[in-house]
Amino acid sequence: EKFGLLAGKRVVITAGPTREAIDPVRYISNHSTGKMGFAIAAACYSAGAKVTLLAGPVSLDTPNGVRRINVSSAIKMLDESMHQLEEGCDVFIATAAVADYRVAEVAEHKIKKAGDELNVSLVKNPDIVATIAQQSKRPFMVGFAAETRNVEEYAAGKLVAKKLDMIACNDVSRADIGFASDQNAMTVFFAEQYQMEKRDLEKASKQEIAQQLVEAIHDALHH
Ligand code: C5P
Repeated sequence: EKFGLLAGKRVVITAGPTREAIDPVRYISNHSTGKMGFAIAAACYSAGAKVTLLAGPVSLDTPNGVRRINVSSAIKMLDESMHQLEEGCDVFIATAAVADYRVAEVAEHKIKKAGDELNVSLVKNPDIVATIAQQSKRPFMVGFAAETRNVEEYAAGKLVAKKLDMIACNDVSRADIGFASDQNAMTVFFAEQYQMEKRDLEKASKQEIAQQLVEAIHDALHH
């Protein structure tokens, strides 16, 4: 029997970037390192949860006690998320930096160098966290927002638009926090029905921020 703030809860976390193939040897991706998601996975496990980490391509060790499933594209991450939902999920935490677009038609063979210009047409990827939030048996949904301006306004908008229960946002224009940094500072908002005040998490290590996010999730679940 496990003890802790999330004892017995099944938590699914998406983390890292996604990788969208152009052809068999090339892809489109982004600079996400997965650090925040992995830190949250470790904190959830320490809090007594059963944790499944859906990880895009990152070079991080799997946290102790965490079940990790590696995925590559946004479509694969969504498929695996839906599968996890069927298996049972109490809390879904979306930290992944999902590529907004994927290549419309992935070339079967390596594209050969030819003209001076190459056009690749892109189509929108599904929104994973919003898709999960629309399911009938939905878990407690946590999203993230990284913004460079109007941080709180955009985050509050996403909380409503994606039907989340909680959103953690940070200002990625600050060089000292976010992305590859080991430190982070966040503001957490809760959906209106929780009637909970927003929380400012002061600049701290990603491990400490993760612990505070676990506390915020616990408090909302018991509100
Ligand atoms: O819309 P934006 O990308 O800023 O939203 C960020 C939040 O939505 C994060 O929680 C991210 O993991 C999630 N997201 C997602 N699927 C997408 C895009 C974003 O789950 N295709």
